[in-house]
Amino acid sequence: MDALIELGINVDHVATVRQARRTYEPDPVIAAALAEQGGADGITFHLREDRRHIQERDVELLMRTVTVKTNMEFGCADEIVEIACQSKPTWGLLVPEKREEVTTEGGLDALSDQGRIKAAIEKLKDHGVLVSLFIDPDVEQVQAAAQLGADAVELHTGPYALAKYGEVDRELERIAVAGKATTQLGMRLHAGHGLNYTNVRPVAQIPDMAELNIGHSVVSRALMVGMREAVSEMRRILDLHC
Ligand code: PXP
Repeated sequence: MDALIELGINVDHVATVRQARRTYEPDPVIAAALAEQGGADGITFHLREDRRHIQERDVELLMRTVTVKTNMEFGCADEIVEIACQSKPTWGLLVPEKREEVTTEGGLDALSDQGRIKAAIEKLKDHGVLVSLFIDPDVEQVQAAAQLGADAVELHTGPYALAKYGEVDRELERIAVAGKATTQLGMRLHAGHGLNYTNVRPVAQIPDMAELNIGHSVVSRALMVGMREAVSEMRRILDLHC
């Protein structure tokens, strides 16, 4: 039997709800603990330069409390690379970061932005952090990631997730081909972005897929399956005390 695929849960979206009110709830650190109880093999969090969701306080507490793997996502900005080096997550996941984007839009360009990426990889490795590069599922990008010394690549599954009928097989094939090149070049194969309860299975079945990172669909589902209980708890308080 093939090795089980590791499930990384991205808790950024919990922090997004908290930051909408700049309050203390919902806490991504508590969400991470519950995700562990549910069977997550890793917790992913993205410290953005603009701190729109995850804060440095979250990084500190997640690093102290998460008992499974930690996967810290960030751009190549010196300040954030330094925080990652001091925090020492299991994985540092390098992504492109644009202030105007709603979420990470495309993969890193490992072919043209080599100086900055290489410097970040070397610094992270010097601090004992394994490095993964978030790239589009293109063999040339995979080859560039290997040359830069990445330990893993996370293939961007966003285009697959958004593909319309008739395009899905082609997008899946791109991931499979890039995935094969990844393991042939000695790197670990991860994938993520836009995966949900209906589209995840074909990606999970790609040979040698080691890890999937999923956030939005799991946090969305958590809201839906938790809503009935949350409302009944409030109802009980009103019924008992008013
Ligand atoms: N991987 C990367 C690099 C991401 O930026 C994100 C989104 O934060 C994810 C995985 C998870 O994507 P989603 O929230 O769509 O599941």
